Order: sequence, then C-alpha cells, then structure tokens
Amino acid sequence: MNTKPIGVFDSGIGGLTVLKELISLLPNEDFIYFGDTARIPYGTRSKETVKRYTFECLDFLVERGVKALVIACNSATASALEEAKERYDVPVFGVIEPGARAAVKVSKNGKIGVIATRRTINSGEYQKKILMLDSNIEIVGKACPLFVQIAEEGWGDSDVAYLTAKKYLMDIKDYEIDTLVLGCTHYPILRYTIEKVVGDGVRLVSPAFETSKQLKGYLKDEEWLNEQKGLGSLNFFVSDDVENFKSVGQTFLQKTIECIKEVHHNKGIFQELDSGRTTDETC
Ligand code: DGL
Repeated sequence: MNTKPIGVFDSGIGGLTVLKELISLLPNEDFIYFGDTARIPYGTRSKETVKRYTFECLDFLVERGVKALVIACNSATASALEEAKERYDVPVFGVIEPGARAAVKVSKNGKIGVIATRRTINSGEYQKKILMLDSNIEIVGKACPLFVQIAEEGWGDSDVAYLTAKKYLMDIKDYEIDTLVLGCTHYPILRYTIEKVVGDGVRLVSPAFETSKQLKGYLKDEEWLNEQKGLGSLNFFVSDDVENFKSVGQTFLQKTIECIKEVHHNKGIFQELDSGRTTDETC
C-alpha cells in the first residue's frame, strides 16, 4: 500500500472535471490539486512556454511528496507529457491517449470531431493517438479557445456559452461526425450547451473517466491503492484568485472546498505565501 497523495494539475478549474472522476473511482485517496490560475490560458501559448509552466507546477506537486501525477490538461499533456515522464521519478498520466481511446470505443461511423485549445489542436496529438488506435478513422479538429474563459467564469450554461458554441460548432455537423471529443478539460463545464448545439446524433466524450480508470489500474497493479478506511482528503493550491476558483469549483464539484491556499511564483519556483491565505488553518 502507498498512502501518499496523488497530484493533479491544470491551468485552472478545468482539471476539476478529471478530479471529480478520480474522487468517484478512488474515494480513499488523498489528492492535491494545483490550478495555475495566474497564467491561464495555456492553450493560446507556445509549446515551450506551456512546457515550462507545466514543469514548474509539477515540480511543486512532486515537492509535496505525491505518489503519482495526473496532467489534467490537454494543452500541457500535448506539450510536456513525454518529457515529464522522464523528468520525474513518480509515474505521470496525461489525458490525450485516454480521450482518444474513449472516442474510438464510442464511434460507430468512424468520423470523430475533436474540440480543444489551439495548442492541443495544432500539436496534432489527438489525431496521432486516434489514428494509432484505428487508422481508418476520419478526424476533424476545431479550436474553441473562448470556452476556457467561459468555464472559468462559471458560465457553462449561459446565453454567452450558447452563442459562442454556435459560432464555433456551426459547421462541424457537415462532417457527419457521430462522436465529439471534449479535448480540453474545461469543456465538460459547457457540456449541456455543446450538446444542444451539436444535437442528439453526436456523442460527447471526455477523457476524465478513461484517465481515472487508467490511474486506478496502475495503482492496483503496483499495490499502491490507499486502503485505509475513510474518505481521502482534498487540498487545493492556486496561483491567483482563490475566491473565484473556490466559488466556481464548489459549484462544479458540488462539494465544499475547505483547504485552499494561494501560492506565488518566484524565479521558476512556486511557494506557499507565508500568510497562506487559507480558509481553514488546519489544512
Ligand atoms: N484545461 C486545459 C486543457 O485541457 C487548458 C485550458 C487553457 O488554459 O487554455 O487544455
């Protein structure tokens, strides 16, 4: 057994869509979540910048003694997963291969759409992973960068979300896709809006469940599952705007976020603030 926590990272609240599945599949595990809210969005930045940001955040989690890392961000997975696996002694999981696998399982007509940030779409990683699983699949990719800000505002079900989704996704039906990958972890927050726009004939797939299953399988094989009785703990760190993260995050998780601290970035290293703006001093 390994009772160390699991580190989960995203540029903001998007990774909570993965954390929610992780908690449901692994309720006894302790999780440390890091949201780099000071530097969001990642998806409009270059590969080198996203890689640097990602390593700084993962270094912070590794410092806290995690047993595994989940990069709950497609843009970071596309930019840094392979190098992260070499950089750290703990296992590192990304979301793109699990997302591709889920889509290939679901699609019946072999036509899959992928919506994601510009960074992820331009990386070609989804296309590559899907074609490795089935080389006959036709893929259409579309970047929808504004969805990230809409999710961060907690406006997933709003008129603004609907109009934006219509603008981005109007043409995607022309490709006769039957499956649409939500290739950015923020997008499940707009799930109902996206469903309304693409219609019933298109199944939405997010990498969250498949990623969590993959991690659970790994922990089981290694005999690293935390089998101590009782529910695991949740600790959150964000690099800016604790209040917004807390309020949008709680609504999405349908859970009170008790332990949340702000961390600051200095010369490539994240450190907890001395005063540690936290809502619960016992965290
Ligand atoms: N949630 C992230 C992703 O899956 C990134 C969003 C962003 O920061 O642009 O790509």
